[in-house]
Amino acid sequence: MQWENSLHHFSHKDLIYKSTSDYLRKGLKDPDEIKEAESCVKCHTPVGFITGYPAKTSDDRTRIPKLAQKGIQCDYCHSATTAEKIYNNGLQIEPGNGEEDPGVKRGPFKDSESDYHEVAYSEFHTQSEICGTCHNVKHVVFKTDLETTYTEWKNSPYYSDDLNKRITCQGCHMYQRPDIPATGSTERPKNPGVASDDGPERDHIFTHYFVGANAYLPELNGDLEKAEMAVSRLQHSAALSIDEKQLDQNKLVVEVRNTGAGHYLPTGLTDIRQMWLEVVVQNKYGGKVFTSGLRDKNDYLNEDTIIYNTVFGDGNGNPVHNVAKAREILKDKRIPPKQSLIETFKLPSIDLKGAEIKVSLYYRSAPQKMIDTINGKGKHKLPIIKMAEAKVKI
Ligand code: HEC
Ligand code: HEC
Ligand code: HEC
Ligand code: HEC
Repeated sequence: MQWENSLHHFSHKDLIYKSTSDYLRKGLKDPDEIKEAESCVKCHTPVGFITGYPAKTSDDRTRIPKLAQKGIQCDYCHSATTAEKIYNNGLQIEPGNGEEDPGVKRGPFKDSESDYHEVAYSEFHTQSEICGTCHNVKHVVFKTDLETTYTEWKNSPYYSDDLNKRITCQGCHMYQRPDIPATGSTERPKNPGVASDDGPERDHIFTHYFVGANAYLPELNGDLEKAEMAVSRLQHSAALSIDEKQLDQNKLVVEVRNTGAGHYLPTGLTDIRQMWLEVVVQNKYGGKVFTSGLRDKNDYLNEDTIIYNTVFGDGNGNPVHNVAKAREILKDKRIPPKQSLIETFKLPSIDLKGAEIKVSLYYRSAPQKMIDTINGKGKHKLPIIKMAEAKVKI
């Protein structure tokens, strides 16, 4: 099944989420910070949250009903009617009452029938807002924007008032399937077929892989197909180019372009995500004369690496690593959809004739150092994915 092993399936079980949320909750004293640290279950264990348990992150996980442990599931999304606000999961749910009365399931087709549950057409399901209500996250007390994927999309060229021109979240993410990354830089062909055994033939069946950029969790659960889809998505997101004219002045000018993502690159919890540039310049004998963004033996990144991310602050300009303490945004360096950022590196003043310059853009779901600190060293090794590369020989 497509949804199985997706991050929606794992939203509660996700080891990285569990260990991170426990770690961030520890030692907090400020009641406002505690409120935030206890709010995670609203999106990560939504079925449990709306049915009464867990109410907070620190509730005993062994007591959470099996169904709720399945994360963001079919019934949850298909019982949604609207969203009261487009952040912090404002979904309005009209669930059924178990097998006797499964309730109305809502979806995108006007002529659906089911022997089992009532089916209703829902325009809401065809819109980005159903995704956006969870994919926009604000601090529950300080209102700091923690994740803004929906807003980034809404302000992008993929949004249009004209419904026929608008490319929704579903328009990319629910067109993706193996070998079809369906990003802004590729075709997004329709997926014709039938939605149920005896249903009518449709010109497009929305796929439910919900693959973003995370290759680690699917792989950990033996789903190599989804891991591969995440890699392929990342490899159709960005482009790098080197301005060769500037090399005469020993200046390396690199353009990093967001070609494929319908939101900033990277997006989501970008205080954790890492996307960075690695530069290696070798002279004609193969000796390294300039480098930037190389990893050390632990795969940790250097302080001066060019990295695209966000950094939160404590309200007094000091960086904080705990979202519960995020009172301000100190840095937000990411690439808007269909836009570029330019990086300039000063190369050493030597004769570059015969030199080779290689620039690579890499992605990792979180800093390896953070993962080692929270989970123990060597427990989880996050994959490092090359998104794009540019090479010049002088
Ligand atoms: C994160 C929310 C979400 C989850 C989880 C989810 N769906 Fe959907 N589903 C949607 C949306 C949104 C659409 C419609 C997309 C559109 O019209 O743009 C849809 C469309 C459908 C359709 C219509 C036919 C089609 O494929 O185009 C069916 C059937 C369906 N989903 C079944 C399921 C089943 C079964 C599961 C669990 C295995 C599931 N969904 C999980 C959001 C979800
Ligand atoms: C034009 C195609 C396109 C549209 C529209 C689009 N996305 Fe994406 N999305 C991508 C690509 C490509 C990636 C992989 C690169 C990246 O991580 O940003 C991605 C990645 C993601 C990720 C993983 C980010 C990470 O690094 O953890 C999430 C979450 C996501 N999208 C959600 C959404 C939501 C929600 C919407 C609608 C508000 C949306 N996307 C609209 C193409 C699209
Ligand atoms: C109930 C809240 C909720 C709704 C509704 C929702 N999502 Fe998500 N989504 C999440 C959470 C939480 C995660 C991350 C789970 C984790 O990593 O533990 C996630 C993960 C994802 C990812 C994978 C990100 C990655 O890093 O690889 C994609 C892609 C995505 N969602 C797209 C969508 C789209 C498209 C929709 C609308 C059809 C949608 N989501 C609706 C909460 C939601
Ligand atoms: C309003 C909904 C919402 C709330 C509340 C929320 N999250 Fe999330 N979370 C998401 C979405 C959406 C994603 C996926 C974003 C992406 O992949 O870029 C996510 C992804 C994550 C991930 C990444 C998991 C991985 O495997 O890469 C971690 C860790 C995480 N959340 C921790 C937390 C913690 C800790 C809290 C509480 C302090 C929390 N979240 C509260 C929506 C939410």
